[in-house]
Amino acid sequence: MNAVIPILDVEYEQPLPGNACDTRHAWARVPAEPSPQERRELKDRIRRLLKERNAVMVSHYYVHPDLQDLAEETGGMVSDSLEMARFGRDHPAQTLVVSGVRFMGETAKILSPEKRVLMPDLDATCSLDLGCPIAEFSAFCDQHPGRTVVVYANTSAAVKARSDWLVTSSCALDIVRALKDQGHRILWAPDKHLGSYIQRETGADMVFWNGACIVHDEFKAFELEALKKQYPQAKILVHPESPADVVALADSVGSTSAILKAAREMDAKEFIVATDNGMMHKLRTLNPDKLFIEAPTAGNSATCKSCAHCPWMAMNSLAGLAQVLETGSNEIQVDPALGQRARLPIDRMLAFTAALKAGQPGGSLVPHIGAA
Ligand code: 13P
Ligand code: SF4
Repeated sequence: MNAVIPILDVEYEQPLPGNACDTRHAWARVPAEPSPQERRELKDRIRRLLKERNAVMVSHYYVHPDLQDLAEETGGMVSDSLEMARFGRDHPAQTLVVSGVRFMGETAKILSPEKRVLMPDLDATCSLDLGCPIAEFSAFCDQHPGRTVVVYANTSAAVKARSDWLVTSSCALDIVRALKDQGHRILWAPDKHLGSYIQRETGADMVFWNGACIVHDEFKAFELEALKKQYPQAKILVHPESPADVVALADSVGSTSAILKAAREMDAKEFIVATDNGMMHKLRTLNPDKLFIEAPTAGNSATCKSCAHCPWMAMNSLAGLAQVLETGSNEIQVDPALGQRARLPIDRMLAFTAALKAGQPGGSLVPHIGAA
């Protein structure tokens, strides 16, 4: 850990036996914003190193705008977690530089074990991943035999390896609906808000792990209603990791890419957006004639829970990226045997969503009970 870089304390919940929750502590470091000149120099260095190292950038919508723009400008991609996984798997570059959080780098490595996967900061984690340790999760699965285990992408390789299906927020609804139609009963982990949204929409028989995203969990329905009164024409766009009473106020609920699509296609000039505020960069650059307002949280707090920006996504910096490209440090490692097992549910998700995209019913890829 670098002592000169300020460290943020982060609280997250971890389930205890009996569905109770315990508050745990994690941390994130806050990289300094470079000066305009440093920024220019870092970007030039990264452009040069990407070419020299035959590397490609894959960035999530929540990371710093510079890392999003640079990814696109250099032939890489900025996207949601599902398309990040697909792009990393399909791109011919032998080095992937993933700006996001650790599970995104691990997914890239699992899908392309032969490639080198680097991340600007390997300590960039996620409260959903932290709150779902494999030993407890495995015990939870053992308590519910006969259920198909559906796991959100925001988890460790070990948790993925214990699952039947992986989902992201952009495909969870379709996959659970198809599973339900085949008669599956679901064990869902780790995000309780996304899980209960999926259950309300599909009516599937589901039991839930008790995890939450520290960013989305903080959006507040009461304050959102008050803000809507100030902007009565605004449409409300909500990521389904948000609490149910916030989701209930939405004009559109969906993943980061679904939020972008809704903002582009909806016939409105003003939008209130309940997701990480890193998303504002793409929303504003793609829709310069529209107004985007951040949905309210409880306000800034000492633990950084309520600033609507993921402290771990914020750990990705130009300086970190330049350094890993220069030195080859911060390489993601996944145990090959674990990676092979974890790949099965990821491959299922990618095949299902590719079939849906191609206009085939993805449900035909869902095996009947007992074959999951
Ligand atoms: P998306 O899958 O909608 O990109 O969200 C993933 C996420 O929570 C990133 O932190
Ligand atoms: Fe995890 Fe939430 Fe951060 Fe996404 S925004 S990485 S779900 S803590």
